[in-house]
Order: sequence, then C-alpha cells, then structure tokens
Amino acid sequence: MAVRVGVLGATGAVGQRLIQLLEPHPDFDIAALTASDSSAGKTYRQAAKWRVDSPIPNDIGEMTVTATEPGEVPDDIDLLFSSLPSSIGAEVEPAFCEAGYVVSSNSSNSRMAEDVPLVIPEINADHLDLLEVQRDERGWDGALVKNPNCSTITFVPTLAAIAEYGLEKVHVSTLQAVSGAGYDGVSSMEIIDNAIPYIGSEEDKLETESRKLLGEFDGAELSHNEMAVSASCNRIPTIDGHLENVWVETEDELTPADAAEAMRAFPSLDLRSSPEPLIHVFDEPDRPQPRMDRTVGDGMAIAAGGLQETPFGLQYNCLAHNTIRGAAGASVLNGELLLENGYL
Ligand SMILES: NC(=O)c1ccc[n+]([C@@H]2O[C@H](COP(=O)([O-])OP(=O)(O)OC[C@H]3O[C@@H](n4cnc5c(N)ncnc54)[C@H](OP(=O)(O)O)[C@@H]3O)[C@@H](O)[C@H]2O)c1
Repeated sequence: MAVRVGVLGATGAVGQRLIQLLEPHPDFDIAALTASDSSAGKTYRQAAKWRVDSPIPNDIGEMTVTATEPGEVPDDIDLLFSSLPSSIGAEVEPAFCEAGYVVSSNSSNSRMAEDVPLVIPEINADHLDLLEVQRDERGWDGALVKNPNCSTITFVPTLAAIAEYGLEKVHVSTLQAVSGAGYDGVSSMEIIDNAIPYIGSEEDKLETESRKLLGEFDGAELSHNEMAVSASCNRIPTIDGHLENVWVETEDELTPADAAEAMRAFPSLDLRSSPEPLIHVFDEPDRPQPRMDRTVGDGMAIAAGGLQETPFGLQYNCLAHNTIRGAAGASVLNGELLLENGYL
C-alpha cells in the first residue's frame, strides 16, 4: 500500500515539481498540500500558478490547500516533503517533527545542524542513521532529513567518484539557472542579456555542505571532510540546469582518463528515482550543456565532460537539473531511502 504523504510549500517552483514527481509515484500517495495563509482554503488549481511542463493532475487541482501547521495536516500522513522558504522551514519543520511527522526537506535551514542528516542517497546513505542521534537528542517521534543545495548536488557526486585519489583542494564556479531562485526570484530586467556574479549565501552552502556530505559518520558523530573548497556562484539566463566548472587537486596522481572511468563506474542505487548510471560522462568537448543535457536520466543524473589536466589539477564541467535532481527529485529520493530503511 502506498504511503500517504503531504507537500509543504506545494504551490512554489519546487512544490510543483514535487507534485509532478509524486503524483505517478507507486509508493507515495499525495494526501495534503500546504502553502501560506494567502493560499489556504483555495483549491490547488486556484492557489498555484502552475508552470511545470505537464498539466496539473486533475485530482490534485481539486484538493484544498491548507495553512502550514501540524494541526492542519491529517495525522495518518507519514511523510512530508518540504519546499518552504528557509525562514518558514526553520519555524515549522521542527513543529511537524515534534508532532510525529517524518520530514524530507529541501529548504536550507538546519542543513548544517550536527544531528540532521544531509543526504544524497547514492553518496552517503549511511548518514541517515544520524536520525537515531537526532531522536535521542530532540525527543522527536518524527524526524528531519535534508537534501543539499541544488549547486552542491551537482558537483559532489563527481567528487565522490574520485575521492579515493585523496581530495585536497576544490574550486567550483557555477552558471546557475533562474529557476533556482524561485518564480519571483530574479526579474527579467535583471537577467536578460546579463550574468550576475553574486547569489546571496550560495557560495558558503557549496563550501560547507560538500564537506559534510563527504564526511564520515561513526555511528555517533559526523566528521566533515577536510578538503578545501572555494566556490564562485553566478546567475545566468537559462531556465533550468546548473552548469559548473570544477578544478580538483588530489593527493595521488589523477589523469582525466582515470577520472572519467571512475565517474562512469560510480555505482547508483536500487531506489526508484536513482538513475543508471548516476554520472553520465560525455566525450564531446562541448558537453554537457543545460538545454541539451539537463534531462539526462530523467533529470536525476549528473552530466560531466571536458575532463582535462591543468596547472590547477584536474578540470571538468558538470551539470544537473536544479529543480529535479537539485531539489524536488532529491527530496523524493530521500523519501524512498527513508521508506527502504523502515522510517515510515
Ligand atoms: N528553485 C530551486 O531550484 C531550488 C533548489 C534547491 C532548493 N530550493 C529551496 O526550496 C525552497 C522553495 O523554493 P521555491 O523556489 O519553490 O520557492 P517559491 O517558488 O517561492 O515557493 C515557496 C512556497 O512556500 C510557500 N510559503 C511562502 N511563505 C510562506 C509562509 N509564510 N507560510 C507557509 N508557506 C509559505 C509558498 O506559498 P504561497 O504560494 O501561498 O505563497 C510556496 O508554496 C526554498 O527554501 C529554496 O531555497 C529551491
């Protein structure tokens, strides 16, 4: 029987993607949709400015949106997918966990908290066991799991694939799509014919989240990876798909051919939304490109290419669909991992 789930922040850019991915999902059944007080009481069709590339599923369009409070969500829902602004997530996610709900969240609040697992299932599924520490410390019946920032998710799998060579220094420069800022995030007057070399708080997220994801969990504590990471984040006028240029210095010698082989061979998982392969490596020097390659692996794979040796170590490009692998798909995948591990 499918698990009853809810979506917090269901009317937003990520919320809509969540609905698109969850509605046909055989393991999950959407039973609650929440948003701000201004949407509460409306049907989903009235409340959401639907902009995803498939119609609103009919039964979802007729559901009533509620306010984002535990008392508004039925008790028999096991799992909540959260795509709220982080300031709102910080207030309400702990209240939902305290009320017994398991929350798979995409918002940035609490990602770096010591007892909150930050998970990309193919990379660090073992960090999910941090939930036992979380429940002991917080006394929750529920639980809180986070997926990383969309730009972090794009480059960390490629690093995981070459980690055995000893990661020392990583430089990453991003070219991020406008959908990453949400529908009201960047005005057309700002971004058309332009590139903006600043995305508030973004660089810090790439630098800290990557070290947590590639850290080691010993059953009680998580130690962060010691590699040095420097990020530079840029907004460009693509709609979806974050492209990133990465330079990596490793302890052991790493040729472009070895790196390509390690990325191609890096294992995926046997979860419904995990793509096979996880990392698609292009031989063509001008790939990956956002418009052509963001839907590789149904938007859940990482695309890489342009591997070459430079005076600053190995250099390559990588790309992921920011609202699928980078946001909604990442939360759904964490939901599948929670289900597989008996948390629902
Ligand atoms: N877009 C991406 O690619 C991406 C990637 C990774 C992470 N994220 C993160 O995901 C989260 C959602 O991003 P988004 O792009 O989907 O944002 P968005 O399009 O602005 O949507 C925000 C959602 O939160 C609801 N909301 C706003 N204020 C609220 C309040 N006071 N109480 C309850 N609900 C409220 C909105 O409901 P109303 O419609 O009623 O206002 C809407 O459903 C953010 O934390 C963002 O940083 C986004």
